[in-house]
Amino acid sequence: MLPIDLTGKNAFVAGVADDNGYGWAIAKALAQAGATVRVGTWPPVCKIFTRSMGLGKLNMTLAGGGELQIEKIYPMDAAFDVPEDVPKEVAEDKRYKQFVGYTIQEVADQIKKDLGGDSLDILVHSLANGPEVKKPLVETSRKGYLAAVGSSAYSLVSMVQRFGPYMGDEGAVISLSYLAAEKVIPGYGGGMSSAKAALENDTRTLAYEAGRRWSIRVNTISAGPLSSRAARAIGSIEKMVDYYETHSALSGVNTAPDVANATAFLCSPLAAGITGETLHVDKGYNVMGMTAEDQLGK
Ligand SMILES: NC(=O)c1ccc[n+]([C@@H]2O[C@H](COP(=O)([O-])OP(=O)(O)OC[C@H]3O[C@@H](n4cnc5c(N)ncnc54)[C@H](O)[C@@H]3O)[C@@H](O)[C@H]2O)c1
Repeated sequence: MLPIDLTGKNAFVAGVADDNGYGWAIAKALAQAGATVRVGTWPPVCKIFTRSMGLGKLNMTLAGGGELQIEKIYPMDAAFDVPEDVPKEVAEDKRYKQFVGYTIQEVADQIKKDLGGDSLDILVHSLANGPEVKKPLVETSRKGYLAAVGSSAYSLVSMVQRFGPYMGDEGAVISLSYLAAEKVIPGYGGGMSSAKAALENDTRTLAYEAGRRWSIRVNTISAGPLSSRAARAIGSIEKMVDYYETHSALSGVNTAPDVANATAFLCSPLAAGITGETLHVDKGYNVMGMTAEDQLGK
């Protein structure tokens, strides 16, 4: 047997606020493989997430048996690197006022302190935000575009920059990308396609720079569609899931565990030679040049 064994590893999964998205599934897969899991949650949704978990409303069951244990939830806003970046109106917003230390640097410092000398081994970036995502790129404002790239792509650079020094040798970083980085996906607007293209390119550069500095690996997974909260906010996600199911190389619907298990593999010593990669986990949708239906009929 060649197991994925993450026993003794410390993981931080940023972008978890309910039990529907990729971040949650990744937290579960890492825990199932033996890792200790901490999560980062966007401050505006942190309270409701914590409350739902406290009320037992989230599906904590692990595939192999047992329950997901979350060591700690850290409020984190990936749009801000250091406290000076937080605008006054955000700091005073009632959804933020209740928290302290939610910038990326402060969370990195807290995790370092909480690990008390242990290293962080696994860093997952499973978050994105494009305020104008519903607008075609051609109608997107500069402010909306830069917000999308800042929250969804630069945040990875910032996280590697600030967590990298605390990560042990053989550490692994994973982010979540989407096919819109490479091909036109109508409806995925507001600069989000540009953000994903930046994320994939930065994955390669960071693989080299962070690889040489801290011996950590940096990969991204280009995931198939999933009806998460973020995807539902874009609209037409159910249609997209059906479309992929019909037109992918493999039959069946892309699932969160497909992506989460691939993440666990990439974070494990089994993937020691893999870095700078964009791995498609989408039932092979991306390799199709023409749909079977168009060529062969039903
Ligand atoms: N769902 C899909 O179809 C799909 C496909 C490919 C890639 N992805 C990517 O997967 C990742 C996870 O998304 P998901 O679809 O699982 O949805 P999700 O809603 O579970 O996750 C997105 C998370 O980002 C958080 N977030 C938003 N703005 C933030 C900020 N400024 N700081 C910190 N956190 C913030 C949200 O609170 C949420 O928890 C994203 O990068 C997304 O682009 C999703």
